[in-house]
Amino acid sequence: MIYSRIVGTGSCLPPKIVTNAELAAQMDTSDEWIRTRTGIRQRHIAEASQTSSDLALPASREALSAAGLAPSDVDLIIVATSTPDYVFPSTACLLQAKLGIKGCPAFDIQAVCSGFVYGLAVADKFIRSGQHKCALVVGAEVFSRILDWNDRGTAVLFGDGAGAAVLRADSRPGVMASALHADGSHAGILSVPGNVCGGKVTGSPFLRMDGKAVFKLAVKVLDEVARETLAQCGLTTRDIDWLIPHQANARIIQATANKLGIDASKLVITVDRHANTSAASVPLALDLALRDGRIRPGQRVMLEGVGGGFTWGAVLVEM
Ligand code: UT7
Repeated sequence: MIYSRIVGTGSCLPPKIVTNAELAAQMDTSDEWIRTRTGIRQRHIAEASQTSSDLALPASREALSAAGLAPSDVDLIIVATSTPDYVFPSTACLLQAKLGIKGCPAFDIQAVCSGFVYGLAVADKFIRSGQHKCALVVGAEVFSRILDWNDRGTAVLFGDGAGAAVLRADSRPGVMASALHADGSHAGILSVPGNVCGGKVTGSPFLRMDGKAVFKLAVKVLDEVARETLAQCGLTTRDIDWLIPHQANARIIQATANKLGIDASKLVITVDRHANTSAASVPLALDLALRDGRIRPGQRVMLEGVGGGFTWGAVLVEM
């Protein structure tokens, strides 16, 4: 049997940090409100000249270096992003060029905050098919570009960044199970309802959200999809060493862990430092916990995404 394993991870956060206090100086909000409602203390914000592929490049190089591999070893590139550099070509193709390689398939996945989990599940299936041996899966976002900085209900929640993982074919399972879902009937609760037409933006180029509806649905589906993924391998929540849910809000993360009966000590939380980086949030958290030694070889990690679409999914990996 061919399986896929995560053999290296990497991160890139733009150097500029914006604290809650800095936001409170420019809009009607407070550090106290943001911290108590979301757990967020600060976020990284890209410079105007930095694109998703610019952030994806150092994260990818770091992941390849951790894996002891060169860009030329990669035979599949998947970039999850909702803030691509261009309408086209894909950010994955731009990343491929920046990595100095050519020929392998490269494409973007648009599943908003579930994007990295979607990408990992897809790459796992490509590798299991036997046609690919080394996949680079990246979540990269510059969400600051699609925020309405006059809307305090959304502007305080998001940040920029990129996280990457290298998946390699192996005879032992790294990716143990995965499950992906979507329900387009909820498209309206979280969207950027605009497009480019005749040289102009039609609709709105800003993120719109019904926060309460997203919150409720997120906790429900993160619970369900974790259980569904575990059931595929006959495991229960007791068999998880670490839970890495999408980092949208500390209260969503905590409520999900409570529902699953998973102790808070098994949670990796980065939302306090990174805010919600959409598709980048899960790989950034995974990379951090691998590098600081919390996640050790042989441990089981449940990665979970949820976001606009509505989309959700989970991947259970053994490191
Ligand atoms: O990747 C998925 C992305 N989205 C999410 O994860 C969002 C999920 N939802 C949430 O995290 C929460 O719903 C929020 C953090 C967005 C909001 O928390 P909430 O407890 O649902 O607050 P709310 O929307 O009910 O707002 C409560 C009050 C309102 O004032 P009134 O009407 O009670 O006077 C808001 O106007 O808080 C006000 N408010 C703010 N106040 C200060 C909303 N945003 C802010 C703000 N600062 N930034």
